[in-house]
Amino acid sequence: MSTSLRGNWNYPTTIWAGPGRIAELADACARTGMKRPLIVTDEGLIGAPMIRNALAALKNSALFGAVRGNPALTHVEAGLRAYRAGGHDGVVAFGGGSALDAGKVVAFMSGQTRPLWDFEDIGDWWTRADPAGIAPVVAVPTTAGTGSEVGRAGVILNEETHQKKIIFHPQMMPRIVISDPELTVGLPPGVTAATGIDAFVHCFEAFCAPGFHPLADGVALEGMRIIHRFLPRAYADGKNIEARAQMLAAASMGATAFQKGLGGVHAIAHPVGSWFNTHHGLTNAVILPYVMTYNRRAIEGKADLISRVLDLPKRGFDGFLAWVIDMRRELGIPHSLADIGVSVDKAAIIGREAAIDPSASGNPIPVDAAQLEHIFRAAVAGRLDAVDAAA
Ligand SMILES: [Fe+2]
Repeated sequence: MSTSLRGNWNYPTTIWAGPGRIAELADACARTGMKRPLIVTDEGLIGAPMIRNALAALKNSALFGAVRGNPALTHVEAGLRAYRAGGHDGVVAFGGGSALDAGKVVAFMSGQTRPLWDFEDIGDWWTRADPAGIAPVVAVPTTAGTGSEVGRAGVILNEETHQKKIIFHPQMMPRIVISDPELTVGLPPGVTAATGIDAFVHCFEAFCAPGFHPLADGVALEGMRIIHRFLPRAYADGKNIEARAQMLAAASMGATAFQKGLGGVHAIAHPVGSWFNTHHGLTNAVILPYVMTYNRRAIEGKADLISRVLDLPKRGFDGFLAWVIDMRRELGIPHSLADIGVSVDKAAIIGREAAIDPSASGNPIPVDAAQLEHIFRAAVAGRLDAVDAAA
């Protein structure tokens, strides 16, 4: 089976996919010219055998493992100090979305003189960066959701404003990705579900975002088909290597597709994560049906197409929505934001910040702060029937 799950791909970057391919980590670093890599990982992975093995395999490497969920400027700054103190010349970003984002941003900032927030993803701000000061990255995902391993941005929390900022530069794309499903077999079912639905939402929001982008649409549709088939299997049996390999591919597909845009789910999930420190994938998973219901008028045709590609028992928007709700329940995802510790006392702020989140512009129906607040309140209450679909 392992040979059939193996592939070398070259879009959107070089991806070495397949069980056991972490053995090629030193080769990947050598190909990017790294001689002294800094391994950036999540706090939770510091002692893991896969990190110890990576340190042993990479000569002259060091470990920076102080990255938390929803990484903030302080984590990036600490990583930069470690990078400079060790005289490193590249980053191995190894872990879940937080480690990948933090690692990519450390490599990006390693040779910049301007402050981090000057490189927020606004207009052409990325051109302020000195391209010669961007160090190479080898990315090793250990969850299948974020897709950050094939993304050109990192999401960093500004702790002063409580806003998640997208730091963007085309050269932030990792040079080589090692997509090894054996690294994800230890993910607990809850994390498998939450990150897997994040990948689904990337595909879904990209597919429904307005605009002419058949490349993204094709990738998104196939990504949803794979997740429909394999997420329940990866959840039920974490050691199912085929399901893990398919989910890793689907996660990369989601992030490839969302160059086209995201939408209301991510627009609301970002400020909720900033204010309540909720898990990104889990937050998206809870919010998804509320935003779908709000967007109904604009996405009925696309929802019908998705229901046919996924070969759902019931077709059309209603069949698709019913499947989303069933899948969510079967994967142990709660129905309301209140269930994950989110309250309505910040509803006005969430609405305002969701409206200015870059994801909001990809929503299939234009949404303002009041409408996003309305959807948020329904999601906190767990009342799908309270969502007024846009006319
Ligand atoms: Fe996401």
